[in-house]
Formats: sequence, C-alpha cells, structure tokens
Amino acid sequence: MRVFVAGATGAIGTRLVTQLVEHGHEVIGTYRSPGHDDRVRALGAEPVALDLLDPQAVRQAVLEAKPDAIVHQATALAGVRFGRSLDRSFGPTNRLRTEGTDALLAAARAAGVHRFVAQSFASYRYARVGGPVKTEDDPLDPDPPAMARETNAAMRHLDEAVTDAGGIALRYGGFYGAANDGLVQPVRKRQFPIIGAGGGISSFIHLDDAAAATVLALGHDGAGLYNIVDDEPAPMSEWLPTLAAALGAKPPRQVPLWLARMIAGKGMVMMAEGSRGASNAKAKRELGWTLRYPSWRQGFVAAYGGPAGSDPGPR
Ligand SMILES: NC(=O)c1ccc[n+]([C@@H]2O[C@H](COP(=O)([O-])OP(=O)(O)OC[C@H]3O[C@@H](n4cnc5c(N)ncnc54)[C@H](OP(=O)(O)O)[C@@H]3O)[C@@H](O)[C@H]2O)c1
Repeated sequence: MRVFVAGATGAIGTRLVTQLVEHGHEVIGTYRSPGHDDRVRALGAEPVALDLLDPQAVRQAVLEAKPDAIVHQATALAGVRFGRSLDRSFGPTNRLRTEGTDALLAAARAAGVHRFVAQSFASYRYARVGGPVKTEDDPLDPDPPAMARETNAAMRHLDEAVTDAGGIALRYGGFYGAANDGLVQPVRKRQFPIIGAGGGISSFIHLDDAAAATVLALGHDGAGLYNIVDDEPAPMSEWLPTLAAALGAKPPRQVPLWLARMIAGKGMVMMAEGSRGASNAKAKRELGWTLRYPSWRQGFVAAYGGPAGSDPGPR
C-alpha cells in the first residue's frame, strides 16, 4: 500500500513510518519544520513539506502522492508549556485537529482515497461519572472545564468528521517510550505531584504499541473509534510513583486539593481528579492487536531503565 503519513517526524509518526516500511508499505511522510526532510528520508520514506492549515497545499500534495491510505498524526505539541489553560497550550493542535483534518478529508475525497486513520485521544475525555474504565460507547464528558472546552471540541470534531467519512479515529492513551516524553523532566524534577489522594485514572500506551495498532487500523475495513491504550488503566497514586522510580527520581510530592487548585487551577484539578481510564477490548477484538507492553509497569522500566536491579523486559 502507498501510505501518506501527515506528521511523519513526530513522536508517533516516526515509529509508524518505521513499522509501515518494515511491513513493506511505501510511505510518503510529511513534515513541517525546515530541515526535517532528512529525518523522513532516514526513516525510509519520501519527504513532503506540508502545512496542514493550507488546504490547497494539502489537496495538491495528496493528489500528487496518489496514496491508497492517509494517516493524520500531526500535532503541534513539541516544546509546549502547559499552564492553567489547556486550550491555550493546545490552540495550534486544535486547529490541526479541526481545519487540518477537514483539509485532509477533502483531499482524500478529491483523490479517491478511502482509507483514512487519524490520531485522537482517550484520557481525560470520558464523562467523569460511573466506573473507572470506559469503552468507546461510553459518553464523552458533556461539560468539560472551561479551560479545556475548545480542546475537547476539537477532538470531538476529529472523531466525528473522520468516522462520518468512513475512516478510523484512534483514541490513544498517554504516549511514552521516548527519552523526551513530556512527563520525564517534570517527574525527574519533582514538579509533577500526586493531586489529592491521586484517585484520577489514566490510560497509557507505549509508542511502539500505538504504532502497531495504527498499522493494523490501516488494514481494517470500515469506520470506527478505537481506544488504543494498555491493559491497565491506573490511578495516579500508583502510576506516578512507579514512573518516578523507573526514572531514578525521588518519589513524587503529594499536594492537597486546595493547594493544587491554587497552583494549577480548578479546571486542571477537576480533570486530574475525575479522569477515567479507557478499555482496549474493542481494538484487540476487531483489529487483532496484541501489545508488547501490556502494562505501563513493564513499559516504564523498558523505556527509562528502571530502578537498579529491575527487569527491563516486556511481560
Ligand atoms: N497521546 C499522547 O499522549 C500524545 C499525543 C501527541 C503528542 N504527544 C507528546 O507531545 C510531545 C510532542 O509531540 P511530537 O514529538 O509528536 O511533536 P509535534 O510538534 O506535536 O509534531 C508532530 C508532527 O506534526 C507535524 N506538524 C506540526 N505542525 C504542523 C502543521 N502545521 N502542518 C503539518 N504538520 C505539522 C510535525 O512536523 P515537524 O516535526 O516537521 O515540526 C510532526 O511531524 C511528545 O512528547 C509526544 O509524545 C503525546
């Protein structure tokens, strides 16, 4: 298959291109930052410079590439500073998830491309009610905190636009597996505390497993939403100390809710405290996906080395 990967140089894009090439696919990989063409070439793909926010350029790039399938993995999160407003941090990414998705879908229609897979997100999105682990059929949070409304709306737009067009939206868990993962520095510096009792649930996914699920989704017929997360959604009180230990850092601090609200803002605490995890049963069942790192417990150690004497291998 000829696969057009938008965002080939990102955290997931690089792993995905590598796995697609290993599976014998031809890959056209797009990049945005000057000089990143070499990175695409080094992965074994044909580089194309592309701004997803330029619909004419997107249309032309897809028509010229003549792909059998398109994957949208573009975000704008490198170097982003996270403050009290998620919408401010995610502003450019939200545009890639709305306008960028629409431009790629329009280009796919123009070029007669029927296979379309796009990056969505699972954690912090499901309604903060009921049990700790949610399936794709469970409702999304109908009333996200004000500082995350645009971000949630952008993900909802992507999910709906892609599946309405017959494609697949992959709701990934929190990525890890690279030395520069977003949590690494804050956890090393003890700047990422356990909030309250640490009961909010998160779902994680190793980048290699996320890429493997994406390759499978490309070969799957029919539209759908899939949670691409590991087997063990877990409360912050469990995963954060384990992550700190895997990084060789001191145990995380613990801050009471009132203090966390003052420091991080009410909305951030509401999301962290009430977040629900996601189930991967549908992706395993329908895509035939198996995980190399079924739990972050082994995955963090494999990715970051772990405390001295621990076993770094997958389960
Ligand atoms: N589920 C998750 O937890 C999740 C999801 C996404 C990202 N992250 C994390 O966020 C951090 C940064 O992510 P990242 O390394 O993937 O970098 P990123 O800056 O988000 O870039 C991702 C890809 O999108 C491309 N891109 C950026 N702006 C674009 C535009 N306007 N048009 C077209 N393409 C554009 C980038 O190209 P260039 O490289 O050429 O700039 C790159 O190929 C990583 O630690 C990652 O793990 C986590």
